[in-house]
Amino acid sequence: MSRIDQLLAAMTVEEKIGQLTMRAAGTNLTGPDQPYDLPAGIAAGRIGSAFHVSRREDTHRLQELALGRSRLGIPLLFGLDVVHGYRTIFPTPLGEMAAFDVGLWQATAREAAAEAARAGVHMTFAPMLDIARDPRWGRIVEGPGEDTLLGVRVAAAKVRGYQGDNPVRGGGLAATAKHFVAYGAPAAGRDYAPVDISERTLREVYLPPFRAAVDAGVIAIMPAFNDIAGIPMSANRRLLSDVVRGEWGFTGIFVSDYDAVPELIRHGVAGDLAEAASLALRAGIDIEMMGGAYEYGLPVALKRDPSLIEDIDACVRRVLALKERLGLFDTPFGPGATPETPGGPAAPRTLARDAARRSIVVLVNRGVLPLEPSSLRRLALVGPLASARRDMLGPWACIGSGDKAVSVEAGLKAALPDCRVDVAPGVAIEGADRSAIGDAVRLAREADAVVLCLGEAWAMSGEASSRAGPGLPGLQEDLAAAVIETGTPTVALLSSGRPLIAPRLMKTADAVVAAWFLGSEAGHAIADVLTGRCEPCGRLPVSWPRSVGQIPVWYAERPSGRPQDPADKYTSKYLDMLNEPQFVFGHGLAYTRFRLSGLTVEPSELRTGEALDVAVEVSNDGERRGEETVLVFLHDLVASVSQPVMALKGFAKVALEPGETRRVSLTLAPEDFAFVGTELVPVVEPGTFEVLVGPRADRAALLSAKVTLLPDSDTASRT
Ligand code: GLC
Repeated sequence: MSRIDQLLAAMTVEEKIGQLTMRAAGTNLTGPDQPYDLPAGIAAGRIGSAFHVSRREDTHRLQELALGRSRLGIPLLFGLDVVHGYRTIFPTPLGEMAAFDVGLWQATAREAAAEAARAGVHMTFAPMLDIARDPRWGRIVEGPGEDTLLGVRVAAAKVRGYQGDNPVRGGGLAATAKHFVAYGAPAAGRDYAPVDISERTLREVYLPPFRAAVDAGVIAIMPAFNDIAGIPMSANRRLLSDVVRGEWGFTGIFVSDYDAVPELIRHGVAGDLAEAASLALRAGIDIEMMGGAYEYGLPVALKRDPSLIEDIDACVRRVLALKERLGLFDTPFGPGATPETPGGPAAPRTLARDAARRSIVVLVNRGVLPLEPSSLRRLALVGPLASARRDMLGPWACIGSGDKAVSVEAGLKAALPDCRVDVAPGVAIEGADRSAIGDAVRLAREADAVVLCLGEAWAMSGEASSRAGPGLPGLQEDLAAAVIETGTPTVALLSSGRPLIAPRLMKTADAVVAAWFLGSEAGHAIADVLTGRCEPCGRLPVSWPRSVGQIPVWYAERPSGRPQDPADKYTSKYLDMLNEPQFVFGHGLAYTRFRLSGLTVEPSELRTGEALDVAVEVSNDGERRGEETVLVFLHDLVASVSQPVMALKGFAKVALEPGETRRVSLTLAPEDFAFVGTELVPVVEPGTFEVLVGPRADRAALLSAKVTLLPDSDTASRT
């Protein structure tokens, strides 16, 4: 009899439910506080896993309790939100997406997992894979941005990075794909608000990143707080069990979000805790995080419906199998001291600096960047984020410490040793006190250049942090205007969890740089790019709105029957605003000039099932080296379902010296021509496709060619 069968046979119902119960250890809660005697619960066998455990002394202490005091001595599973770093903090996920670099995404996850695993953590609640097109939503900061293909690529990269070949035993972590699903499309951009999207949009846009995570072997999935068209995800048996387990073959575990199971009562689909627990169990949720619905509700639910014990046993079996797979029974205190990363203790900071540099997006540059260190005698550093350190880490910074973060001030002072750097906050991040603007303006007037450090506090994005007006908070716009009016060349840095709507700043500053929340090495990375020590290569993973009135704005829209035509009143546009965002998906400037030419698509006539080779020449026509990002979009001109005006199907980066030209090639796979057909399953239909290639989702910047997909014997075939 296997260990799992033996344990199942020996366990009481209370102990079985215990294996399905996860509670927080520690105080930095990420949801409503719920006092609970964790040690007593562990000793009584009522707890099978704990989260918010971040240090080895804590994981060790709790594990000893489980092994030594509980009747069966089943080891605990420890989870933690290692979202963009454990102790060394990397750019927040939306910022890191701007690197368009799959290898980097995997590397930072690997590094974070190694740091956390050494502390005895077994599971991370990451990657967050919620596609988002609404910067009012605070959690846009945690995810892949607006584009499904980017979501698919980062999903696989992060799962590979976190889990490695053998999570925990091999020094990695079990990954959790979250929040399943469409959490990024809440009504009015308000966190937790209802989601109402079509099944087609669900399958076209929001499901694919989770499918990619499952195909990459993700061990856990976390259902989202929201409902979809009235069915809360924590009770969504069709999507959790029929689709993810049934259609996709997922064999891992579902771990609920924080208190999400009891919240089925507030959703109005459960009359009491027992009913909520029963719905979640039947839907397929294996572990309940906080809430106590399983601990206190399942015993009552069992009395009402004894057949639930079969669901309980199935969940317990999956949880014990996971603990066995992670080696917790053999090495409950972790695999011992896993080797430092190959580069030694400095490696994480080096990677953090590189990741931060590659995430920076230069939005505007009217000839002022890169700053020329030799001509800079006095630099004014103005703004509420000039000396900020904790804010540079952004939300979900795990045990990252502001004390170890490099501020913009520190980074620029280190990079410009011969330059006098004066600092003036001018205004607070939020607030109405303008009394210090004068000092800032005086500094600006006397300086050779100004770096304006503007943006959000770290807690203004992330969970429960939606903003109805996602612009520059407080009096920062006024500060910027006053400083820019001095005429001193001014570079505006925007540190934020989301695109910030600031049309006046974009028009008046000499340069504007999206600096997201870049993590522990923010200051050094920003200085590297502003001084030209490194070339900017970041590109926007999300459209940047011109006005909150445009939201949601994204590039891959369907055309409608009246696509905008400025010359025709009766087409889809505003009376008072352009349709185009401030900056399109993929926008980002270099310090040099790139030119694309010679687009080829081979073969020009394609049979279903054949791949398409796309190639283009990229030239660096400028005086500085640079790294271009080449995006390949497809537009299916005529199909049985109206298709987006373009959809990203591939991307590649190419580094070029001044004057250098390289041919960049990408291959589109047959499935790239598929779309969700009228029957809601992927289909490929013959016809003409436009292949659009270039740096961003703007037709004027794209080369295009046509390719024809020839009919098969029958006209449409399922992929
Ligand atoms: C939070 C978040 C989730 C996180 C969990 C544990 O409410 O929604 O992303 O992993 O609780 O902290």
